[in-house]
Amino acid sequence: MENLIALVNRLQRACTALGDHGEESSLPTLWDALPTIAVVGGQSSGKSSVLESIVGKDFLPRGSGIVTRRPLVLQLHLIEEGREYAEFGHLPRKRFTDFAAVRKEIADETDRETGRSKQISSVPIYLSIYSPNVVNLTLIDLPGLTKVAVEGQPDSIVLDIENMVRSYIEKPNCIILAISPANQDLATSDAIKISREVDPKGERTFGVLTKIDLMDKGTDAVDMLEGKSYKLQFPWIGVVNRSQADINKNVDMIAARRREREYFSSTPEYRHLANRMGSEHLGKVLSKHLESVIKSRIPGLQSLINKTIIELETELSRLGKPIATDAGGKLYMIMEICRSFDGNFKEHLDGVRPGGDKI
Ligand code: GDP
Ligand code: NA
Ligand code: MG
Repeated sequence: MENLIALVNRLQRACTALGDHGEESSLPTLWDALPTIAVVGGQSSGKSSVLESIVGKDFLPRGSGIVTRRPLVLQLHLIEEGREYAEFGHLPRKRFTDFAAVRKEIADETDRETGRSKQISSVPIYLSIYSPNVVNLTLIDLPGLTKVAVEGQPDSIVLDIENMVRSYIEKPNCIILAISPANQDLATSDAIKISREVDPKGERTFGVLTKIDLMDKGTDAVDMLEGKSYKLQFPWIGVVNRSQADINKNVDMIAARRREREYFSSTPEYRHLANRMGSEHLGKVLSKHLESVIKSRIPGLQSLINKTIIELETELSRLGKPIATDAGGKLYMIMEICRSFDGNFKEHLDGVRPGGDKI
């Protein structure tokens, strides 16, 4: 049986592939109904570092200032064996095995949409990574929240970024990965500020604390990690990413993860929390949570998909056969994907007791 997250990934890509043509149909609604995880936080809070640690690869453009200027929809697929590779939605069938080339393509594709200016665009870039070392997961990297425009940026950029981030995380199906640096007061965290706005009870927000290793001597993150500073429904997760010096020295991800584990298990303050800290744990928690959310949404998704199939059939018969137009071909493809979903979802539902766990 196809993994549920992989199944939803395919549907997500299909919805976007249709572009403008899907506007009158239920496809945009379907997109919104699909559960996703969005990464939010202030600039330099450690968003890219967290994503890279979850993936276990260096592949994101970095630098100071606003580097992420378009949403990046990152789909991780666990494969049984073989060499890891990446594929972009805008370059189907081209396999990237060199992750430095992935990083360059993200930067180039950002520039293609925004020009070389420092503008932002809400048009997402789709990137899939296939690897034996990842968990099945879809994450959306969003531009970092900022307080002031820099040279070359319009003043509106601060609000533009905030609005773009909000447009993702205000959807009830969005799981929020809120990144806050531990070396700053939580009360000033951009991630907490915006996630509290859309999820005041913290029911769909995962709080991640970065830069624990950079806290002032004599202070620690225990209160924050135990949810005493800001309470969320899910436990806070602390991480120690690579510092800039580590990155400059090319410290690899495997060494960094090992060091992170050692950090939590050997620091007296954190020892009692060590088994629920770190990037590896974070990836597993998110994957499990995403899968359970998808499962709980299957019935609703199924009726939306059925509605979409009917609409697509109507649209196709209006276009007439044989399907000569590009749009017709795409509609047909999506209808086929929706149909295969219907069957797949049934299988997943068959394995689930009503309101209960897998049998
Ligand atoms: P982003 O702008 O939110 O994507 O932040 P980045 O992931 O690019 O991180 C900004 C800077 O902080 C980089 O130089 C990282 O090396 C550094 N950094 C991020 N997380 C940590 C951490 O947990 N510990 C340390 N020491 N440095 C970190
Ligand atoms: Na940055
Ligand atoms: Mg970044």
